[in-house]
Amino acid sequence: MANVTVIGAQWGDEGKGKIVDWLASRADVVVRFQGGHNAGHTLVIDGKTYKLSLLPSGIVSGTPSMIGNGVVLDPWALRDEVAKIEGQGVSVTADNLAVADNCPLILPLHRDLDALRETAAGKGKIGTTGRGIGPAYEDKVGRRAIRVCDLAHLDSLDAQLDRLCAHHDALRAGFDQPPVDRAALLAELRDIAPFVLRFAQPVWKRLKKVRKAGARILFEGAQGVLLDVDHGTYPFVTSSNTVSGAAAAGSGLGPSATGFVLGIVKAYTTRVGSGPFPTELEDEVGQRLGERGHEFGTVTGRKRRVGWFDAVLVRQTCAISGVTGIALTKIDVLDGLDVVKICTGYRLRGNVYDYLPSHAADQTACEPIYEEMEGWQGSTAGARSYADLPAQAIKYIQRVQELIECPVALVSTSPERDDTILMRDPFED
Ligand code: GDP
Ligand code: IMO
Ligand code: MG
Repeated sequence: MANVTVIGAQWGDEGKGKIVDWLASRADVVVRFQGGHNAGHTLVIDGKTYKLSLLPSGIVSGTPSMIGNGVVLDPWALRDEVAKIEGQGVSVTADNLAVADNCPLILPLHRDLDALRETAAGKGKIGTTGRGIGPAYEDKVGRRAIRVCDLAHLDSLDAQLDRLCAHHDALRAGFDQPPVDRAALLAELRDIAPFVLRFAQPVWKRLKKVRKAGARILFEGAQGVLLDVDHGTYPFVTSSNTVSGAAAAGSGLGPSATGFVLGIVKAYTTRVGSGPFPTELEDEVGQRLGERGHEFGTVTGRKRRVGWFDAVLVRQTCAISGVTGIALTKIDVLDGLDVVKICTGYRLRGNVYDYLPSHAADQTACEPIYEEMEGWQGSTAGARSYADLPAQAIKYIQRVQELIECPVALVSTSPERDDTILMRDPFED
């Protein structure tokens, strides 16, 4: 039976949460496989809004949810998020949430370092979410992370703390900061350990079992391919692999398990934080799209940068991530425009490019080449059938799929769960 892997195919905030929630009712389990609480996934169900950062978006529909080993887990953020969502009437228990016991932890010292670096970088900052994501992944590959399973062995943590603190104390000294307070850190870990350990288990083993039983697995990506640490607009990226292939390594299943790769694509483009953005609009059209699309970050509340749809980027991210089909979201935000533009190539130092070059300076210098299309005055907002869309909107969708060389499987027409048009069921592939 088919599994589905949902990934963001732009710079994040494409509407992954909405689509995962919508698909979750047909999945047996939802799994997060990378990133951390830098993600902000919004679900709107019957007018009620849920904002999730660490919890998989299946949790609201009651679908068993798992946090895979590829995620960096801030245990205090998890506790807060569970409390918040329980306050909204969603229960989170060991029956519907599992956390991989080999997840590395985000500690307060990671958050400190993230902030210290960003402040020191001034104008050259990445514009991170300040959640400690980068420093936590660095410690993971540096083999000095404290992991979920360590929470059951806090009495024998000394050697690991030596390694971790030796590294961080040196970095902190460079910022005129005192050494890590080991006793305080240990006390905080002791305090949070029972909460996390109730969900901890070898997620790979659970997934092996459900897969063998023929269950449908829905992998939920965070961020987007342009924020991927290898394939994104480096160094203005996050610190994990956000591409579909990460679903296998980040959950403990082989690559064949990823199934249908559903790329979530906004009908225009947004970006939060610093870095190149060829189709960015700094005029009243950008202002209008930002307002209509409520483009403010779920996690930090920052205003998102807004621009026209960039088909070059999405063609590239779909290829890199092996996207089977896309979900085109927020088409309703383009309603009422006289003209819509799509970027089909770049002009760079006298040459035309059909891809985004790797160097940040070249990316910044890329000038978009636009194709203009007539807009539509009718409304797509809330449409639930393809036939309800204005003819020009259909033309736009068709042109998008031609240019990105990838079919449209779903169209989303509002934040509400059911305002979704299904053209090709990813689970039935
Ligand atoms: P994610 O990070 O990819 O899950 O996306 P976010 O939740 O950060 O941002 C997407 C925003 O757009 C959220 O506020 C959603 O409620 C909203 N949204 C999702 N799909 C649609 C849509 O089709 N139309 C409109 N107008 N809003 C949408
Ligand atoms: P979702 O899952 C949009 C961006 C940050 C910054 C860069 C690095 O909601 O789509 P980090 O804190 O990860 O070290 O920041 O990545 N970023 C996101 N942008 N959506 C996200 O997640 C993001 N997660 C990180 O703004 O530019
Ligand atoms: Mg988001």
